[in-house]
Amino acid sequence: MQQSSIGEWDRVWVNAHLATMVAAEGNLNAYGEVKDAALAVRGDRIAWMGSSADALARARAQDVAVSDCGGAWLLPGLIDCHTHLVYGGSRVEEFEKRLCGVSYEEIARAGGGIQSTVNATRAATREALLESATRRAQCLMAEGVTTLEIKSGYGLELGVERRLLEVARELGRRLPVSVRTTYLGLHALPQEAAADRAGFVGQVSGPWLEALAGSGLIDAVDAFCENIAFSLAETEQFLHAARRLGVPAHVHAGQLSDMGAAELAARFGALSADHLEYLSAAGATALAAAGTVAVLLPGAYYMLRQTTPPPVPLLRQAGVAMALATDCNPGTSPCTSLLLALNMGCTLFGLTPHEALAGVTRHAAQALGLQAEIGTLEIGKRADFALYRIDRPAELCYNLGANPCTGVVYGGVPRRFKN
Ligand code: NIG
Ligand code: FE
Repeated sequence: MQQSSIGEWDRVWVNAHLATMVAAEGNLNAYGEVKDAALAVRGDRIAWMGSSADALARARAQDVAVSDCGGAWLLPGLIDCHTHLVYGGSRVEEFEKRLCGVSYEEIARAGGGIQSTVNATRAATREALLESATRRAQCLMAEGVTTLEIKSGYGLELGVERRLLEVARELGRRLPVSVRTTYLGLHALPQEAAADRAGFVGQVSGPWLEALAGSGLIDAVDAFCENIAFSLAETEQFLHAARRLGVPAHVHAGQLSDMGAAELAARFGALSADHLEYLSAAGATALAAAGTVAVLLPGAYYMLRQTTPPPVPLLRQAGVAMALATDCNPGTSPCTSLLLALNMGCTLFGLTPHEALAGVTRHAAQALGLQAEIGTLEIGKRADFALYRIDRPAELCYNLGANPCTGVVYGGVPRRFKN
């Protein structure tokens, strides 16, 4: 195991079992397990990993603060790489309708769905948006989430999209969790633009994108490429504009049908293509060649009671990195538990517990372009990690509803949650 490379320590965690989640050849020791280990931090970085005995000897000699983990498992902080968690209102009535047999597409085409959340979000104050988003983020954090991606997309006019992105940034300042923001410019066509699709796509891809990128509010863009949302050509126009500005992309692809959106995402070198229930072999090959991560979202699949899961064997065979996320949103996935997404990834999509855990650590980091900084326990990476009272890592995918997280460390700073 790696030894010291960053000199002094500020604090050391001893008596832990590490799951470094560093990729392993041939899948031996697939979680990167190191039993009876210790991890030291310097500033906001991981400084050292080794045996508890060595750590204690050095800590005594150098007067370093020691935290005893009591035999807990210590993993890289979890990363929720796809959420829409800043929004107004709720969609419980739509949930009731769907249970009576009305489909998501029918509701969307009748002006409900995303459009109803757009109305509630436009009517909400900045404070109300911040308050409800904070509650959702805190649920995720209590499970060990240390990085969170948040998409706009419920404003669909420049001022409200800006407000959503500002609220997301503010959340990142107020809470210890790291926030990455995504401008979901093409989510739905707002009612007022019904007669002028081309004009709306032009605004989103032109002045709105430039204004939001110019204000430093966005880390990436996203588009819902689907027959009830935006076409391949419209999505391509937006992705071109983002590329010109040097802004990376995600694409909602293949959620309800295969329009070739995954191939489009790959052609633009997107960081991720998300959903992918409908994906061809050619699409999977294209994602692999481009290094685009497949972000699987079992919460939405479950809530919509879909029956065609993403073709995990195809993705595996093609060598596509797979991530898992909550897709936290009021319509298709009112989910604030990444641990539940882990379980669903295994039970509904057939991921192994190792694939699922890589999907919320190493591969989720890659889906955000942050693999050099987070996603594994490695010296020099950001000291974001979480402690769990479990017997083995797969237990994180096994429990339904229990939260075994006993502490979370953000950039070297510990927070304790009462679980
Ligand atoms: O990821 N598919 C598009 N966007 C969200 C759903 C948004 C909504 O229904 O409010 C999703 O599933
Ligand atoms: Fe989504």
